[in-house]
Amino acid sequence: MDVGCAVGRLSFELVRHADLVIGLDLSAGFVRAARTLVREGQLAYVPVIEGELTEERLVRLPTDLPRERVEFVQGDALALPFPASLFATATSLNLLDRVPVPRHHLAELNRVTKTVGAALLVADPWSWAESPALPTAWLDGRLGGDNAGDSRTNLQHWLVTACRHPGASAARDASTGRCAIAATTSN
Ligand SMILES: C[S@@+](CC[C@H](N)C(=O)[O-])C[C@H]1O[C@@H](n2cnc3c(N)ncnc32)[C@H](O)[C@@H]1O
Repeated sequence: MDVGCAVGRLSFELVRHADLVIGLDLSAGFVRAARTLVREGQLAYVPVIEGELTEERLVRLPTDLPRERVEFVQGDALALPFPASLFATATSLNLLDRVPVPRHHLAELNRVTKTVGAALLVADPWSWAESPALPTAWLDGRLGGDNAGDSRTNLQHWLVTACRHPGASAARDASTGRCAIAATTSN
């Protein structure tokens, strides 16, 4: 599962390594575009280049890509529409600092991935801002209190404790080694 997949760049990359990839995004427009890519293998679009200037472009998927193995759904990273323990792998790139309650997104990643041996890839520029989330909801990046320190260092801690939010299933124990966590910084 690729959460916050936009038009599916990573989802399409992952499909070479998985039996089935689900890309999920809140944006109906992105999901529609990604589904067009699955159906037709290409997508025509007209981006704004500057001001009123636009340009006609065409993106094509590689012909050997097994695109029948990827599906796109519209959904919320804070309330993933999947049962617990479904996925072996979950990715979340450049999303955590854009949701109103980042801890709930981590909790949901935790809930829908397998209890043992799941792999999570979470990458983010950690650009906390008040527009998506109040400072008290930021994972870290604060000088004091519960959110003191830097998010990259504290991610594993948050992945374990975040699943205690009221909407999540029972808390899981870090000592079980239930998931391999790759925390990266991206921008
Ligand atoms: C900065 S883009 C990252 C796209 C892609 N993961 C990447 O790294 O190129 C953030 C994406 O998350 C989606 N998004 C924002 N809030 C979301 C939410 N609550 N649930 C699911 N997707 C969300 C946006 O629509 C957008 O496609």
